[in-house]
Amino acid sequence: MTEFRKSRWFALVWAVPAAVVVAAGVVILARFIRDLPAVQDWLVTYPGHSPLPAGTPEGFPWWLGWLHFLNSLFMLLIVRTGWQIHTTKRHEAYWTRNNSGLIRTKNPPTRLSLPLWFHLSLDTLWVLTGVVYVVLIFASGHWARIVPTSWDVFPNAISTGLQYATLEWPTENGWEGYNALQLLLYFVTVFIAAPIAILTGIRMSPAWSIRLKRITPYVPIAWARRLHFPVMVYFVAFTFVHVVLVAATGLLRNLNHMYANRDDVSWVGFWVFLASVAVMVGAWIAARPVVLRAIAGLGGTVSRR
Ligand code: HEM
Ligand code: HEM
Repeated sequence: MTEFRKSRWFALVWAVPAAVVVAAGVVILARFIRDLPAVQDWLVTYPGHSPLPAGTPEGFPWWLGWLHFLNSLFMLLIVRTGWQIHTTKRHEAYWTRNNSGLIRTKNPPTRLSLPLWFHLSLDTLWVLTGVVYVVLIFASGHWARIVPTSWDVFPNAISTGLQYATLEWPTENGWEGYNALQLLLYFVTVFIAAPIAILTGIRMSPAWSIRLKRITPYVPIAWARRLHFPVMVYFVAFTFVHVVLVAATGLLRNLNHMYANRDDVSWVGFWVFLASVAVMVGAWIAARPVVLRAIAGLGGTVSRR
């Protein structure tokens, strides 16, 4: 028993009950605020979502499902390689670019650790996916679902937050449009977090920052180093909350939206989602050093130091 008292797990004895009490307090307070007559009137004015601009298409196009899947696949491996770079001091293998063939430069040949080589290769694919996504959402009108178009997005987001806190969750239909809190979070993820990851990443990358001299004066290297890791923490936290809410607010219907482009409660989207998870697990297992060395060997020389 004294052993347990000394271990760090002992903190759980008070931390868990304290968390339960705080959570219950938040729910009760939110209920109290929500039931005030003035707040009820306010909730009628700001129900949690704004009307979408005329011409915004309804529903989810097929390309969105594919791009969302590719984003998840690349994101999984980018986070894995980022974590490896963050936690490993001495890497087992390095990659040196062959400066023959198509890519000839005057600079010394680029030399990267194998995890960084994989990180940068995945980043290239991830950025391509993102460029195709941005072009298609603006070409199709889908953009208005994830970009705020009026200031009432803020009171509406507070309204949605209050409704979530009472545990009587908003039951909007994502097929027609997202609620204001979802919209803001998707906007921040796509148009703020992703560009910060890209700019700070390019700034830290040895070969790219030499070539992109126009960006480098605007992004000090110290900022890049300090920001890049917290952006990963943001992406991981966002994905956790996102997937919990997808599951808790009508799993089958939500999965049908994104994975089967239909608005019903059949199991189709769920099976497509499960297949996508299988591909992600397969990619995780396949990304072993032997396989990576073989692929990296195509464009450079892999060595132990
Ligand atoms: C175009 C996009 C990106 C580029 C060019 C890029 C580039 C880089 C580079 C060059 C490094 C090595 C830094 C060093 O040598 O210390 C690095 C590390 C890292 N990257 Fe990225 N990255 C990108 C996107 C991302 C994304 C989207 C995430 C996570 C969601 C991420 C997570 C990380 C992490 C966690 C590290 C380790 C940082 C540390 O040691 O603190 N990167 N990245
Ligand atoms: C593999 C786990 C994931 C699942 C099951 C999932 C599920 C979904 C679903 C069902 C929607 C539509 C929401 C609705 O109908 O109300 C959605 C939208 C979205 N998800 Fe995910 N998601 C996952 C991973 C991610 C990741 C890793 C990111 C980014 C880091 C992401 C970013 C987004 C964005 C930006 C949207 C809005 C897309 C748009 O309408 O243009 N998701 N997701």
